[in-house]
Order: sequence, then C-alpha cells, then structure tokens
Amino acid sequence: MPHDPTQTPPSDNLYSSAFAACPDRHGTGAEKWDRYAGQADDTGRAIIPFWVADMDFRSPTCVLTALHQRVDHAVFGYTHDTPGFAATLAAHLERQHRWAIDPSTVIGVPGVVNGLAVTARLLSAPGDGIATFTPVYPPFLFLPKLADRRTVSVPLQANQQANRWEIDWDALDKALAPPTVKLFWLCQPHNPTGTVFSQMDLLRLADVAERHQVTVVSDEIWCDLVLDDDSPHVPFASLDHPAARRSISFVAASKTWNIAGLGCAAAIVPDEHLRRGWRAAGGGLVPMINPLGYAASEAAWLQGDPWRRTLIDLIRHHRQLALDAVADLPGVSCIAPQATYLLWLDCREWHAAQPAEGADPQRACEAAGIGPSDGREFGSPGFLRLNLGCPTPRLEEGLNRLRKALA
Ligand SMILES: Cc1ncc(COP(=O)(O)O)c(C=O)c1O
Repeated sequence: MPHDPTQTPPSDNLYSSAFAACPDRHGTGAEKWDRYAGQADDTGRAIIPFWVADMDFRSPTCVLTALHQRVDHAVFGYTHDTPGFAATLAAHLERQHRWAIDPSTVIGVPGVVNGLAVTARLLSAPGDGIATFTPVYPPFLFLPKLADRRTVSVPLQANQQANRWEIDWDALDKALAPPTVKLFWLCQPHNPTGTVFSQMDLLRLADVAERHQVTVVSDEIWCDLVLDDDSPHVPFASLDHPAARRSISFVAASKTWNIAGLGCAAAIVPDEHLRRGWRAAGGGLVPMINPLGYAASEAAWLQGDPWRRTLIDLIRHHRQLALDAVADLPGVSCIAPQATYLLWLDCREWHAAQPAEGADPQRACEAAGIGPSDGREFGSPGFLRLNLGCPTPRLEEGLNRLRKALA
C-alpha cells in the first residue's frame, strides 16, 4: 500500500485509550515475553518481543465485565457449549460478514490448532497429504506430520507490482491432483502475509478442490481484523459452491479481542455426518472449553465492535509506520498486509548482500534488541514476521532497532 500523506493520523483518543496503557506481562507466564526474558542485545538492553501473535493491549471492558460476572457466579464445573455461544457467533458472522450459518452446525473447540488436528484425523488417513499455501502459520506445516500425514506446499507468489501475494493455479492443480491429497488447509486472511483472498480466487480454489474431491478446511481466525475496506473477507463456506457446502471453517474471538489465552474457538461443520464423527476423531485428546473462554468470546462478539474498529485504526497507523521504516532499508521489502497485525518482511536481498558468512536477519534483529518471528518457522528462510500489536511508542522503538539491525 503506497504511503498516503492525506491519511488523517489517529486521534489522540488512540494514544490515551486502553491501547496506550498496557500492563507489564513479565512474570505472568506470557509466552511472548518469556522467550527473551533475561536475554540482552549487543548493548545490554532487554530484547523487545515482536513475535508470537498476541497483542500487548488490555482486552475491552465488555470482555472484562463478562469475565468478572462469570467469576462472580463462582462455580466452574465442566461446561459444554453455553446456550448463547452458537447463536451469538451466528449473529456476529451475519452482521460482520453477511454469512448466515445454522447455529446447530457450530462445535466449540478449545483452539483452532486443536481443531485443525481433528480435521486431519476426521478427513484423511495416515500417509495422506494435506495441502496448504506457503509460507504459513507453523502448525499448518508440523501438524500433518504429527498425525502421520504429509504437508503438501503450494507456494504463494509475490507480485511486487500489484503489491499482492498471488496463487499459482498450476501448482495448486498439480498439488491436489494425486488421490492421496484429501484436504486443503486454507488460512484466510492469511498468516503471515496478511493476504485477503478475493471472492474470485476463492471460487477458483473451490473449483480445483471440487475437481479433485479435496475438502477445504478454512482457518478464518483473522477474519475480523481486515484493514482495507476494499478487500472484504469472504468466508469460504459462504460461497455458492459444492466445495463450500462440504467445507469446515474455524473462527474465534481470540486474535481480534486479544483473548488467545482463554482457549475458545468454534468449528462450523455443516455436514452432519462429520459433526457426528468429530469427537471420536479427537481421540480423547480434546479438552472441553473452559467457562471463562465462552463468557469472553460471547461478550466480544456481542459488544466488542467499537473496540475492534478503534483497534483497526491503530493497526492501520502502525502498518504505515512500519512500511515507512521498511522503505528505508535496502534489501528489505514488504507487501502490505490487507489484514492482521502482522508484517511479513522479505530480507533475502539484505542477506545476500552481507559480507559476513552466516549473517542472519533474525540474529541481527535480536542483537539490536528486537525479537521478530523467524521466517524459517513458516517455511521461508530469509523472512521475518513482525507483530504490530503493541503500544505505538513500543513499536516506534522496535522500528528504530529494526533500522539499526538491517540498515
Ligand atoms: C492462522 C492461525 N490459526 C490459528 C492460530 C491459533 O489459534 P488457537 O490459539 O485458537 O489454537 C493462530 C495464531 O496465531 C493463527 O495465526
């Protein structure tokens, strides 16, 4: 996305609101902050984490109030899907994405990753292939192996002119052709590139999947964090297509309202036969969702939209700050994300230009005090993923460090 000098800066409200005052997460078991605990950069400063996809912001008041109320109830016994869970989600999807689902097709799951693992066992056999666009969120790469299946990569193509990641249709067709590929795990909006696939792309993907009788499983955990109004999220299952009708979708409030630690997501499984097989496919390894996860998710879907819209304004601003910083870095490029709070940086030219053998962008960043995600984990060495979900001054400090690391 080109820099737009006319873009109005976010209001002071963004800086004075809950998005500025972030609690210190040290000592809370925060995965994001513990990775670099006790480590220092080359000048002795603490390394600021910009890796795993959770934000440092407080969750919205509506979520906190619902949690307080649930805690005040004071009984935390085994809990299955609460009476309002599926209906609240259905209303949210209808309002937000014009996607009408039947609430009886919703299955609460303790996490999308867990749900993806269930689909591998539900819809394929040992030795089968599970195809996906790469680079991709790491569990898409390692879960098939854990289930004795194979990952089949279909690399996305960077189109620098169009500022877009695009699908290689020939490669997709070839990948899905062998009869042993049973599933396509679609990540949309896409982590790490932030791509929002268009309705045309999704229909074409549906055609290919239908031709090869491959089931599409669509992870749409990022669907409520679309940054560009001109590229709306289209739920795969909302397409008028046979492949869509037999697909499975995952959604959650966790990314958008920053409640990933509460372990609550939803699978939408229109096929009754697959719904009946779901629990058995979990092999006794899938725990119930905890009651606080339900309470927080319902509140977020029901009342969290004003907070979400303010967050999107802030992330747009952060995206621009980060793109401006990257524009100053020779050998580093980035296709602007259309969704998510993630930035996917191509540092391969930077790497090739380094005189020192073994120079590595991840190490260079850590030495300069910034801890991004390493592209290797997503199947793309030479790339970095940067998480923009933090207070603006922290991001600005991180970007200064990035400039030092990769200048
Ligand atoms: C595409 C995608 N799917 C799933 C997850 C994790 O979902 P959960 O915490 O519900 O397992 C993430 C987390 O970053 C993600 O980016």
